[in-house]
Amino acid sequence: MKAGILGTGHYAPEKILTNFDMEKIVDTSDEWIRTRTGIEERRIASDEEDTSDLAYKAALNALTEAGIKAEDLDLIMVATVTPDQSFPTVSCKIQDRLGANKAAAMDISAACAGFMYGVITAKQFIETGAYKHVLIIGADKLSKITDWTDRNTCVLFGDGAGAAVMGPVSEEKGILSFELGSDGSGGKHLAQEGSHIVMNGREVFKFAVRQMPESSVNVVEKAGYAKEDVDYLIPHQANIRIMEAARQRLGIEPEKLAVNVNKYGNTSAASIPIALSEGVKNGKIKDNDLVVLVGFGGGLTWGAVALKWGK
Ligand code: ACO
Repeated sequence: MKAGILGTGHYAPEKILTNFDMEKIVDTSDEWIRTRTGIEERRIASDEEDTSDLAYKAALNALTEAGIKAEDLDLIMVATVTPDQSFPTVSCKIQDRLGANKAAAMDISAACAGFMYGVITAKQFIETGAYKHVLIIGADKLSKITDWTDRNTCVLFGDGAGAAVMGPVSEEKGILSFELGSDGSGGKHLAQEGSHIVMNGREVFKFAVRQMPESSVNVVEKAGYAKEDVDYLIPHQANIRIMEAARQRLGIEPEKLAVNVNKYGNTSAASIPIALSEGVKNGKIKDNDLVVLVGFGGGLTWGAVALKWGK
């Protein structure tokens, strides 16, 4: 049995904070942010909207696209580092709001690589036949742990949610290969300390610019394809320079790289599923395409899959 993606969804809060708005908050410039990161604006959730609200909207969108009813879900996983509270989990709140009455529910904490951890966990349950339909949501409201006085970090992040419904697909489709990893010795470079994010940007950059290209190549080779066979690359949207490094390592054309970091900034666990959902909706991802999803994050953590799109 092969596991694949049956439907995707995403949600980004309405409020837009541009780089010009950031210039009024900290000593920075649109030019610095754009050239160093590729970010032009980000979305910020309102005080009334918490992570579970973002996650719920993305989930509804994914269930509709998949044509799956909430009652048919066996498991709900929410990847987040900014849950509404530590318990009840965001996934339990979603289970209740959706009325997914036979679903188990758990949150996953792997920072920006969280959605990849969720997808790869879902694959195991589906391929063993234990579960049929699994909902994975990546959702973060990083704005609530952002230090709005620290220009090194506050310009980078945004809020949002993305989701995918996974289930069995035909033999030639679905997830072909995966890679997951962690290196706790690098945890100090990107962490929540007290109530805020602290980051050694240069160290995280060095790690990411090595790991994302390497993991992308590894999953393509494990799947038995050549690097340049990749039709669409969806990297974690943290910094355009890191994303470009992965694209160049695969040797694929610029149009085959998913880019929305300009619109949303780094939305942590939400970034890959938002880009995936947009790629499906704007027709960039087509049936039978070889798609690579690859992420890295605090922990340090990373994860990647190569998959053949379609049911
Ligand atoms: N505006 C203006 N100047 C700034 C800003 C800002 N917003 N932020 C930092 N600077 C200054 C610093 O103070 C420093 O000045 P100094 O040299 O006088 O000390 C200088 O700019 C730093 O410049 P560089 O080191 O050349 O910046 P770099 O090219 O490394 O870019 C960046 C910094 C964008 C943070 C980069 O290192 C990066 O993207 N790192 C990876 C970060 C990342 O991906 N984090 C998310 C991980 S995923 C997750 O789990 C959340």
